[in-house]
Amino acid sequence: MSSGPVSQRKTSPATNMMLLLLLLSFTSDGRAQRIFGQKVNGSCLCEVNTTTWSFPVVKYEGVLEQVNSCEGSLNKLQEQVTLSVQRLPQIQALVNNVTTQLQPYQYLHDQGLYTALSLRLLGQELSQLETDIDHLHKKSKSAETRKLSIEVSKLRKDVVRIKTSDTVNMKTVKEKLRYLKNRAESCKSIPKDFRGQNRHCLKGLITKISDPVVTTVNPLGKSYISGSWGKQTQMDSEGEKQSYWVQTLVGSHNWGNTLRVYQNYENFMASANYKDYTFAPSHSDAKTNEGPNAVLYGEALYYHCFRSADICRYDLKGSNVHRVTLPGTGVGFNNKFPYCYYDCRAYSDVDVEADEMGLWALYATVSNHGNLVVSQLLWDSEAQTLNVTRTWETRLFKKAASNAFMVCGVLYATRYVDEYREEVFYAFDTATGKEDNSLALPLEKVAKGVASLSYNPTNRQIYMYNDGYLLAYQAYF
Ligand SMILES: *[C@@H]1O[C@H](CO)[C@@H](O)[C@H](O)[C@H]1NC(C)=O
Ligand SMILES: *[C@@H]1O[C@H](CO)[C@@H](O)[C@H](O)[C@H]1NC(C)=O
Ligand SMILES: *[C@@H]1O[C@H](CO)[C@@H](O)[C@H](O)[C@H]1NC(C)=O
Ligand SMILES: *[C@@H]1O[C@H](CO)[C@@H](O)[C@H](O)[C@H]1NC(C)=O
Repeated sequence: MSSGPVSQRKTSPATNMMLLLLLLSFTSDGRAQRIFGQKVNGSCLCEVNTTTWSFPVVKYEGVLEQVNSCEGSLNKLQEQVTLSVQRLPQIQALVNNVTTQLQPYQYLHDQGLYTALSLRLLGQELSQLETDIDHLHKKSKSAETRKLSIEVSKLRKDVVRIKTSDTVNMKTVKEKLRYLKNRAESCKSIPKDFRGQNRHCLKGLITKISDPVVTTVNPLGKSYISGSWGKQTQMDSEGEKQSYWVQTLVGSHNWGNTLRVYQNYENFMASANYKDYTFAPSHSDAKTNEGPNAVLYGEALYYHCFRSADICRYDLKGSNVHRVTLPGTGVGFNNKFPYCYYDCRAYSDVDVEADEMGLWALYATVSNHGNLVVSQLLWDSEAQTLNVTRTWETRLFKKAASNAFMVCGVLYATRYVDEYREEVFYAFDTATGKEDNSLALPLEKVAKGVASLSYNPTNRQIYMYNDGYLLAYQAYF
């Protein structure tokens, strides 16, 4: 219909359906509504008040009676009713057909075989990427963003092609998508209030790690085999510049709610002049730290919050906790993607690190097939919010590493060699999205298990919580 007798003038199936409902519901309660038709441009126009109608239908005759006063409109309405009635089963069949077609993928999905991820999701990711890159390009036109746009359009063509044939390898397309996403992240400009990076970072990869320069036992004793420790990591931190800290997981070696801070190295070695902080009331509170991962950065302890995909920030001065949820579909926690090389370290799913560039979260997601994901974190002191600013996806399966840390925006991952040796074997550079899995940098240790490993940009030392022992190393570039 072009200029219909009722106020609706479109002919889409959706409109037809709508009309069917409106018309049939007209006399649901047996009451008839009076409609006055107006002659407009040679056709009849009825304004109807829909609020008096409800579903389902009782009497159809009443409708006819009412509509009769609008000559010519009845046939059109009848046509629509018939059409809609016919279309209903068609739509139903279509839904069933699509559901049937999706079932094999659903099965794969349920089984954890993600190689056949649906094209729809791929398309969504691609659209998001296009939007992101477009946004980037508008903000800072550069050769790199232009190149990215071109590559994304190429990828878009590939995806369109797989929709019609099976000749393009889905895995290759997904891999390309991951690579482009990483490059787009590297392109993103760094937030304005983000200081102190880069000027310390023209060093290249680590070339050597010293023998331990500190070897001691954690303050609660050797039997406390899990936790994290180190020295204040913020480059330009005001006070507390020399503080050392230990965060032992006192609840079943998995959960912790206390932090011990020493004024300086001498106090730490002598176990003197420390201050204890309690940042959660129990070992199973939402604010409890889950897994060995914490880091002291500025005036706050950052850690993975209990049974969640969140990072917590405990403010040592204000004693309050802020949190942010990590991005990604199926962020692993609760032993889904712990560090597992040789032995799994319970609840080591989400790791928090600090380096010259700031704060980082290392974790794995279902959407990245359990491979390591790197997110940059930022404490916005003005808005008092913890933010995730950028995210990269690596190709290193998280369970195939024993631990990881960040140096100058480069992720380093380790693996177990033997009881007395660990080895850095992999690096991923967030500045370029490039990776290197040919490294072989040994770290001596005194016990088998590595609970946590983290780098400190203020003195370029690496701290290891080695079962109950605390070790530190010097990194060389
Ligand atoms: C009547 O038709 C004319 C010309 O087709 C159009 O400009 C006008 O807007 C119409 N009036 C109404 C009330 O639809
Ligand atoms: C529609 O009908 C309801 C109930 O009969 C009435 O309250 C409402 O004012 C009517 N709306 C219009 C736009 O006439
Ligand atoms: C679904 O629709 C397609 C195309 O219309 C058809 O080839 C296929 O046989 C249908 N599948 C089922 C299960 O009805
Ligand atoms: C952090 O997130 C908050 C809330 O989402 C936002 O208002 C603020 O601008 C963000 N800060 C930065 C530096 O991105």
